[in-house]
Amino acid sequence: MARHLITSAIPYINGIKHLGNLVGSQLPADLYARYLRARGHEVLFLCATDEHGTPAELAAAKAGKPVGDYCTEMHAVQAEIARGFALSFDHFGRSSSAENKVLTQHFAKQLASEGLIREVTEKQMYSVADGRFLPDRYIEGTCPNCGFESARGDQCDNCTKQLDPVDLINPRSTVSGSTDLELRETKHLYLKQSDMRQKLQDWIDSKHDWPVLTTSIAKKWLNDGDGLQDRGITRDLKWGVPAQFEGAPWAGMDGKVFYVWFDAPIEYIACAQEWAAATGGDWERWWRTDKGADDVTYTQFMGKDNVPFHTLSFPATILGSNEPWKLVDYIKSFNYLNYDGGQFSTSRGRGVFMDQALSLLPADYWRWWLLSHAPESSDAEFTWENFQQSANKDLADVLGNLVSRVTKFCRSKFGEAVPEGGTWGPTEDALIAEIEGRLRAYEGFMESMDVRKAAIELRSIWVAGNEYLQASAPWTVVKTDPEQAAAQIRLALNLIRVYAVISQPFIPTAAGSMMAGMKTDDWSWPTDLRAALNALPVGHVFEVPEVLFRKITDDERVDWQERFAGVRG
Ligand code: MF3
Ligand code: ZN
Repeated sequence: MARHLITSAIPYINGIKHLGNLVGSQLPADLYARYLRARGHEVLFLCATDEHGTPAELAAAKAGKPVGDYCTEMHAVQAEIARGFALSFDHFGRSSSAENKVLTQHFAKQLASEGLIREVTEKQMYSVADGRFLPDRYIEGTCPNCGFESARGDQCDNCTKQLDPVDLINPRSTVSGSTDLELRETKHLYLKQSDMRQKLQDWIDSKHDWPVLTTSIAKKWLNDGDGLQDRGITRDLKWGVPAQFEGAPWAGMDGKVFYVWFDAPIEYIACAQEWAAATGGDWERWWRTDKGADDVTYTQFMGKDNVPFHTLSFPATILGSNEPWKLVDYIKSFNYLNYDGGQFSTSRGRGVFMDQALSLLPADYWRWWLLSHAPESSDAEFTWENFQQSANKDLADVLGNLVSRVTKFCRSKFGEAVPEGGTWGPTEDALIAEIEGRLRAYEGFMESMDVRKAAIELRSIWVAGNEYLQASAPWTVVKTDPEQAAAQIRLALNLIRVYAVISQPFIPTAAGSMMAGMKTDDWSWPTDLRAALNALPVGHVFEVPEVLFRKITDDERVDWQERFAGVRG
């Protein structure tokens, strides 16, 4: 059995994520973690909240709360929603943890001792009224190019011209509206990524099996324009990991913190330490190649906007440290999910957010739709019609119907126990052969993280069972040959257990109900399908489970479509 470290990109703390965020990282990571555990592998699946930076500070100010309190509350909210979606993190950490502070400062110091940090003095906009330096995008003014009055300091949204805050006419702070801005000198630490260009290039070139989406983005950043730029890793902010600390190899960094994108990926390691502190686990086995992590396969999941940070910036931190840290083995990235003819938008509240989704329907409906429509080879689109159709067909008509028909029929004709009599013939052999073939394909797709293809295969396995029932019609056969009908139902009941086991990574709650209905706790993977279809022996008692999936009505669809078209209230 192998050991797998799995991380999902850590969601920003400010606000609840929408379904597009979910399907881009946490959900497929959960699918993979659940599958590997089901196959008996040892898995450490980590996620956390990304808590530092200006957006968190501003969101806290808007909520009228100290930023630390705000983050604690929002972490609890996100953790609860993650539980609602049955995301099976081994630990859901926080980038503001004590562990991450120590580790982030350690990496900065270590990079400095490797000669990879330089100090840079630069000029930046300071807002006197706000008492702080302002990041470019928090400055607005008139665009010198097109005259648009709300151009941001980094870019004009009207003419798309890239701007510098000093280019703006009548610049003002978007935090307070104040125009009392001045350029002030400030000193920052830069990571000399340019020195590591070749190392990173070689490393990425060695990853022949990575998805094209991942490598193409990485290569674009490595080779485009001026190539890999040195990167400022500190900011003039209060909220974050302090850049000045005991034993720091620099002075004069008081009042500054590390840039959120420097400390956030380090949280992947710190999160393992948090997990170890909480459970008594051994984090070094997962992260230190001198302590056994050489045997670990490390897979990261993320949306495409996160790829440069995971293929270049974070590896630059790891490789640059020259210490035996585990490097990622495989990066699975996703395109975007759009919402009903436009984009999901957190700032405009457009689309369905995770908490709202759970208030409409149980997690499995969303999990199934999102994963079976994952934006892998291109962007995908959520529409209510498609969602309704997919849930009603795949989940209610195919899987749910099979479970209820088989168990109810058995109860009425043979009682609530696996019936005796009859034997399986060529029809059953054909079904087993078909499912066997599809199951091996399913395993292959799950291993290679081809999420959509895996979903298609799983659905085909459900369909095969339904078609078998339809064709063999035990409800008719029972009138003339009850023994034969018993054999058919024996197979079908066992099929329900097998379906629960293999569907569990996609729809864990329904799978749990199916197992509970079959009154078994035998989650063993059907490596030998024929043997697995004999797991529930004659006489094994079961009960008819509650309806697994109800149908989404047309009225609901219309109602939800209207409710979520506008702005989040
Ligand atoms: N918070 C970032 C986002 O939602 C992701 C951070 S991933 C990490 O886009 F690597 F930095 F942890
Ligand atoms: Zn403009």
